[in-house]
Formats: sequence, C-alpha cells, structure tokens
Amino acid sequence: MKHLISPLDLSVSELTDILNLAEDIIRDPGKYSDCCHGKKLATLFYEPSTRTRLSFEAAMLNLGGSVLGFSSADSSSAAKGETVADTIRVISGYADICAIRHPKEGAPLVASMYSEIPVINAGDGGHNHPTQTLADLLTIKILKGRLDHLTIGLCGDLKFGRTVHSLINAMVRYPGVSFVLISPEELRIPTYLREGVLKKNQIPFREVHTLEEVLPELDILYMTRVQKERFFNEEDYIRLKDTYILDSKKMALAGKDMLVLHPLPRVNEIASEVDSDPRAVYFKQAKFAVYVRMALILTMLGIKADES
Ligand code: NCD
Repeated sequence: MKHLISPLDLSVSELTDILNLAEDIIRDPGKYSDCCHGKKLATLFYEPSTRTRLSFEAAMLNLGGSVLGFSSADSSSAAKGETVADTIRVISGYADICAIRHPKEGAPLVASMYSEIPVINAGDGGHNHPTQTLADLLTIKILKGRLDHLTIGLCGDLKFGRTVHSLINAMVRYPGVSFVLISPEELRIPTYLREGVLKKNQIPFREVHTLEEVLPELDILYMTRVQKERFFNEEDYIRLKDTYILDSKKMALAGKDMLVLHPLPRVNEIASEVDSDPRAVYFKQAKFAVYVRMALILTMLGIKADES
C-alpha cells in the first residue's frame, strides 16, 4: 500500500500515468462511472476547505463510490483530545482510502504510519499539498501542452503557501524549468527549498519584489493568497496582504500565451476584471482537480477501468 504525503512520493513516470489517466477520464467519463462501486473515501478535514474536500468527494462519487467524513476539527473527536494516530486506526475500519487535511505539518505522515488504508495528504499546515500540485500540473499540461521548458512565476506568500512548496518540488524534475519568485522580503520561500531543492538541483531561479518587472517573461504566473491563518501577528498580515494585486493593467504587460493559475480561494490578489481574460485559467484549474483526483483514487486503489 502506498500513501501520498509529499509530491515526491510519485515518480515522474507515475505522475505521467496519473495525468494521462485524468485526460482519458475527461475524454470518456462514462467508462469510469462505476469503477469504485462499493468503495468508500473518508475525508478527515481538520482545517477549512471548499475545493479540496468537495472535489475529492465529487471525484469518488463520479467513480460510483461513496464518501464519509468530517469538515472541521470541532465536529470530530479531535475536540475531545483524540490523536490523529487513534482516529486513523479507527477510520481504517470504515473506509478504503482517506484524504486528510490538518493545520500541523506532518500530521498526514503520522496518520500514514498508523493507517491500514492509503492516506492522501490534502494539505498539512504550511508544508505540502501534493494533490493541488496534481491539479496544477494537469492544468499546465492540457492548456500549455507541456510541463518542460517553462518559466514559472510564483507570486505572493511563498513562505507559508503549501501549494507553492509542492509545485516547486514537483516541477524541478522537468527539464528547462526556471522560476521567478515574487514576494515581499518577509514571505520569501523557506531556506530548505531555496538551498535544499533549487540550488542543490541547479535550477535557475531569481527572487524579485514586483510583478511588473517580470511579467513579460513568464509562461505561467501562479498567484497565491497571503496565508492569514499562519501569521502570528495580525498587523503583519494586514501590512502584507495586498502587496500584489493582479489587474488588467498588469495583464497588459504579460505575453499573450501566459497562463494565470491560482489554487483559490482568492482574496484580493487577482482583481475580478481579470477573470474574463482568456489567460486566466484558475476556474478551469479547479475543475481539472476533480478529474485528477479521480485518477489518483483509481491509481491508489489499484483499480483499472476495463477490469471493473
Ligand atoms: C489552497 C490550500 O488549502 O493550501 N487551497 C486549495 O486547496 N485549493 C490555497 C490556499 O488556501 O490559499
């Protein structure tokens, strides 16, 4: 049994297989509509979520399976002091696979150590969010036609943004990828990524403070929200939250083929006037997330369409 805790738990070839499967699901969803009949997905969400939890649930329902779970720590026995280790031991008897989101970095890894069913990390604190990365990669692959030879701008909260951390880890494995890291000084990427991933793998990258200076050179602009819930001090959040606001004026500086991605939820960082720009693909990205999670569930449960 395999878990998905970090984006690196999937090799490039496993990743390719999942993305190809997701594309086949998009082409012919009917072929997969009963593949998970009798299977259950548990969603253990100790932190707020709209897209991740509901797209996991939609994915399992689209596959003919069922879902159960909780959507806040308050409504689970965590409120009584139960540990993740105990909870997952119990859930292992109720479901076939589970997705867990937790505010503490490493909680899904702990769960995987005690679990009898495959565990998927649906976001752990400011650390990783590997299934958002799958959605990001599927979006780039389908709409850009490739995952290699791309200049990717990552903008916003690069310190606490787990989607950014997972995306960097996944993308450095493709040839010709370079990064432009756009953030305020206080929200630069963590050292373990700058030194341990980018520099160690000799990936070209530079760190800048403004969007305007780099927009013309980007193939992908990945916008992110300043992660309010990870700040110790509200004043810092208020000071930093509106550092970057992408609007039509800034979009005019970008190339005609640049794509704007955002894991969502957006707060202020993309003005709503950008939504109608054909380069803004974040709502498509949210939709692709369902197909890629369907592909992930099938892969982790070892189910093939023609066998069912
Ligand atoms: C992201 C997350 O939870 O990290 N949301 C998501 O899963 N699509 C991004 C965010 O909350 O800013």
